[in-house]
Amino acid sequence: MFKITLFIISTIIATANLQADTQIDFTTDLIIDKGLSDVKENCTVCHTGRFIVVNGGDQKFWKAKTKTMQSAYGLWDLDETAETNIVNYLSKNYSKKVNVSLDD
Ligand code: HEC
Repeated sequence: MFKITLFIISTIIATANLQADTQIDFTTDLIIDKGLSDVKENCTVCHTGRFIVVNGGDQKFWKAKTKTMQSAYGLWDLDETAETNIVNYLSKNYSKKVNVSLDD
């Protein structure tokens, strides 16, 4: 019985921690993590965060998307740190497509 109680308590704590770990930024709807400020400065100026995260992929994917933004849509040159932060942030937090509505 003690073991079961312990298991339940640790599950609750683990779940609470998980929720505390993923906090959502109020202005962009994106997960708060290292690199978000670079995303805000360079990506969500033209379109919403949701528009970005209906896509998802690894570092190679996000690097390619960033290049597309530059060659086709007028994203300026990024310094290396900003680009690394953005690519790391997106591949870590948005490696899979997120099913969000673009309407609200
Ligand atoms: C100068 C404006 C501008 C900036 C800055 C910008 N984008 Fe975009 N982005 C656009 C436009 C315009 C579209 C819409 C293209 C369309 O209608 O298909 C778009 C679409 C997208 C899409 C969805 C379409 C696709 O090709 O998959 C993704 C993902 C995306 N942007 C990622 C980014 C990321 C990541 C950054 C920051 C590194 C960024 N964008 C910065 C203008 C911009």
